[in-house]
Amino acid sequence: MKKYLVIGNPIGHSLSPSIHNHWMKKYRLIDSIYEKRKVEKEDLGSIVNEIRNEKIKGVNVTVPFKKEIIPFLDCLDGAAECTHSVNTLCKVNNEVWGYNTDTPGFRTSLTKDSSIDVRNKNIFILGAGGVTSSILEIFLDVANKIYITNRTKEKAQELKKLADISLTLMGRKKIIEVINWGEKPQVCDIVINTTSVGLAKGESLDLDFKDYENNNNALFYDIIYNPKETNFLKDAKLRGNKTMNGKMMFLWQAKIAFHIWTNICPEIDDEVIKLLD
Ligand code: ATR
Repeated sequence: MKKYLVIGNPIGHSLSPSIHNHWMKKYRLIDSIYEKRKVEKEDLGSIVNEIRNEKIKGVNVTVPFKKEIIPFLDCLDGAAECTHSVNTLCKVNNEVWGYNTDTPGFRTSLTKDSSIDVRNKNIFILGAGGVTSSILEIFLDVANKIYITNRTKEKAQELKKLADISLTLMGRKKIIEVINWGEKPQVCDIVINTTSVGLAKGESLDLDFKDYENNNNALFYDIIYNPKETNFLKDAKLRGNKTMNGKMMFLWQAKIAFHIWTNICPEIDDEVIKLLD
C-alpha cells in the first residue's frame, strides 16, 4: 500500500484527502491511500523518517508546520527555499525533499483562472501569517509596488526583510512597503486577504475599502475557500470589484503535489471542483 498524508493541527477541516483520493481512484492507483493526521511539533522528525524509510510515499504539510518542518528535510525546491515555506514532501533518490506548491498554485489561479495580468500592478497584501510569503513571492519580479499590512507589524517587517533579499538577487529595487494595520495605501489593482479572518462564518476585517467603490478593475482575492464567500469578498462584490476565493489555488497546489508524487498530471474538472462545494 502506498500511503500519503496531510499533517497539521488542527486537521479536521482539510479537504485534501477528498481531492487526492478522488484522483487516486480516477487514475487507478488502487494501492494508494491518502489520509489526514493531526500531529504535534515533536512528531515532525518521525514523519520525515517514515518518508525516508518508505513507509509513507508523500506528505502535504499545513498550518502551523510549513516552516517548522524545514530543519528535518534534506533539500528544498526553489520556491520553498525563497519563501521558507514547505507544503509537500517526497523522497527523491535518497533524500527527503520539501516543495512549495502554494506559490505556483496561487500564480496559476491568477494567470489561468482570473485572466488578470499581474505585471506592473500595485498589490496590497493583508496579513503576514504562514501562507503570506508564498503569495508575496509571485509578485516580486513583476509588481510595480507591494504594500503589506499585518495586525502584528513586526511579522510584516520580517516578511519584507526576507523578500528584500530576493529582490536584491533579482537586481530589482525595493518595492515593498510595510504599512500600519488600518492605514490606507494608494488604491491598488489587487488586494489579497491572507489573514485567517473570515474562516469563521461572519468574521470581518476592520479595514476600510471605501476608496474602491465602483472600481470594477480592482480584484479582491481571498485565499480562504471555505466559506466560499467571506465578508471580505461579499463587501467587494457589493462595491462592484472583481472577486476570487482560494478554491482554484487550493486545487492547483494539490495538482502539482500529486504530479510530484505520482508523475501523473491530474485533471481539474467539474467533478473535482464540486468536491470543494
Ligand atoms: P501564524 O500567524 O501562526 O502564521 P496563520 O494562521 O498562518 O498563523 O496567520 C494568521 C494571520 O491572520 C496573521 O497574519 C494574523 O495576524 P497576527 O500576525 O497579528 O496574528 C492574522 N489575523 C488573525 N486574526 C486576526 C484579526 N482578528 N485581525 C487581523 N488579523 C488577524
